[in-house]
Amino acid sequence: MSVAADAHSLSIKAIEDGDIPEVIALWQRCGSTRPWNDPAADIALARKESKESNATVLLGRDDGALVASVLVGHDGHRGWVYYVTVDPDRRHEGFGRAIMNAAEAWLRARGILKLQLMVRKDNAEVHAFYRSVGYYNQETVTFAKWLDGREPTP
Ligand SMILES: CC(C)(COP(=O)(O)OP(=O)(O)OC[C@H]1O[C@@H](n2cnc3c(N)ncnc32)[C@H](O)[C@@H]1OP(=O)(O)O)[C@@H](O)C(=O)NCCC(=O)NCCS
Repeated sequence: MSVAADAHSLSIKAIEDGDIPEVIALWQRCGSTRPWNDPAADIALARKESKESNATVLLGRDDGALVASVLVGHDGHRGWVYYVTVDPDRRHEGFGRAIMNAAEAWLRARGILKLQLMVRKDNAEVHAFYRSVGYYNQETVTFAKWLDGREPTP
């Protein structure tokens, strides 16, 4: 898949085994990892599910360099994205918009018509990004529960 992003054309492909260390390094550089989430395990789970075609990780490369990623999947009803990240040295070049467009296309192709995502309340810059690419605040409250019995995390 090739997506235009400003002057660049972003080549987008699903993750392969050899991409994993580079993707985790990108997520760490972007502050997208959390102590309670193991990124390698998250990738493995998304790819396991992808065999049933309901989740994957899409990567955006510019001239071969990994610049953007998104973990996209659906629960049979709504689509969700996680780890929406653009290399800190390559921001504001349209890659964030391009990788979100790719996630939307991936979901649309599977008959999923609504994409939802969670952003922390105080992350005003990321709110601005999502508004710019067409998302609106649904004013819902998210409830969560760890299914392995651990205590709540933020
Ligand atoms: C959020 C993020 C993915 C944006 O990537 P990006 O490649 O810089 O975004 P784009 O260049 O495609 O910008 C698309 C639009 O969002 C706007 N935008 C992007 N970053 C913005 C910011 N920090 N503040 C305000 N607006 C912003 C751009 O101005 C642009 O709007 P326009 O088309 O109306 O001019 C990137 O900053 C990032 O990786 N952040 C760290 C990880 C993160 O927090 N991800 C979100 C997890 S919920």
